[in-house]
Amino acid sequence: MPHKIIRNERLNSNVCRLEIEAIDISEKALPGQFIILRVDEQGERIPLTLLRTCQKAKTVEIIVQEVGTTTLKLCALRSGDEIKDMIGPLGVPTEIENYGRAICIGGGVGIAEIFPVARALKDAGNEVVSIIGARNKDFLILEREMRDVSNQLHITTDDGSHGRRGFVSDVLRELLAWGKIDIVFAVGPIPMMKVISDVTRPAKIKTIVSLNSIMVDGTGMCGSCRVTVGDKVKFVCVDGPDFDAHLVDFTELSKRQARFLENEKVSLEKYKGEHKPCHQN
Ligand SMILES: Cc1cc2nc3c(=O)[nH]c(=O)nc-3n(C[C@H](O)[C@H](O)[C@H](O)COP(=O)(O)OP(=O)(O)OC[C@H]3O[C@@H](n4cnc5c(N)ncnc54)[C@H](O)[C@@H]3O)c2cc1C
Ligand code: FES
Repeated sequence: MPHKIIRNERLNSNVCRLEIEAIDISEKALPGQFIILRVDEQGERIPLTLLRTCQKAKTVEIIVQEVGTTTLKLCALRSGDEIKDMIGPLGVPTEIENYGRAICIGGGVGIAEIFPVARALKDAGNEVVSIIGARNKDFLILEREMRDVSNQLHITTDDGSHGRRGFVSDVLRELLAWGKIDIVFAVGPIPMMKVISDVTRPAKIKTIVSLNSIMVDGTGMCGSCRVTVGDKVKFVCVDGPDFDAHLVDFTELSKRQARFLENEKVSLEKYKGEHKPCHQN
């Protein structure tokens, strides 16, 4: 069933926020869940986290980082356009309870994925300490929103153009040295999640990561999103996306994430060739 784009707001040169009409999904979604959508008939199915839902307007909000053909197509849509289909909410919702002091870490577009979790943890009475990071100031998203749902917000950029220079894991190391941490939630690039897991492992702090594996059907049937967690085979679409970071085989995940690189490159070049700005024709 087609879904209408209500609003498309550009957050920076390669990230946009879309509000999309989605009557059923807006009524059922919980923090940590995602949708799988297809922009057009020929398009790939891609998973995206639900940033927010509005039951009154019957819409959902997603944040999209342009990395390939489908995400470029999505960010090019305007209000009034339609996407071909969207299924969800999918995945097991994040386990929200009153843990005490919860650290929420988002790297890059992972900030969009940690936001609903941080908000729900705050509503459940946790002391939420958030750490968000990006390459530079321009790539840092949702700073105001994260501040609103956190007791403390730390910001890092790789080049020091905003917040402190360095990585989210540097701040986590310091927080660990200063006081008790009951749980850590982290979403971002695979190397970032691996480092976070290495930082918390010696202190045996429960650490949950949300895995962004490549998905096709979202039903546990195709096997595309297979990961190994504690020597068990799991499917991110139905068993996750949240997993115990200390048990995830990040090396295998990185390899599986790169398995379509050549096809993705060809598809992107074809799309860009067909959508050149007029002055380049
Ligand atoms: C549960 C889940 C939630 C996600 N939530 C968000 C979100 O809220 N916002 C967002 O921008 N992205 C999110 N992603 C990632 C998003 O699905 C991919 O960026 C998208 O599928 C890429 O499609 P594409 O056709 O534009 O690029 P492709 O041409 O398919 O890929 C381009 C590049 O992106 C990498 N890539 C492909 N698929 C994924 C993937 N699933 N995860 C990470 N990298 C990938 C490829 O290895 C390649 O380097 C999520 C992924 C999962 C599994
Ligand atoms: S996407 Fe097919 S099994 Fe998960």
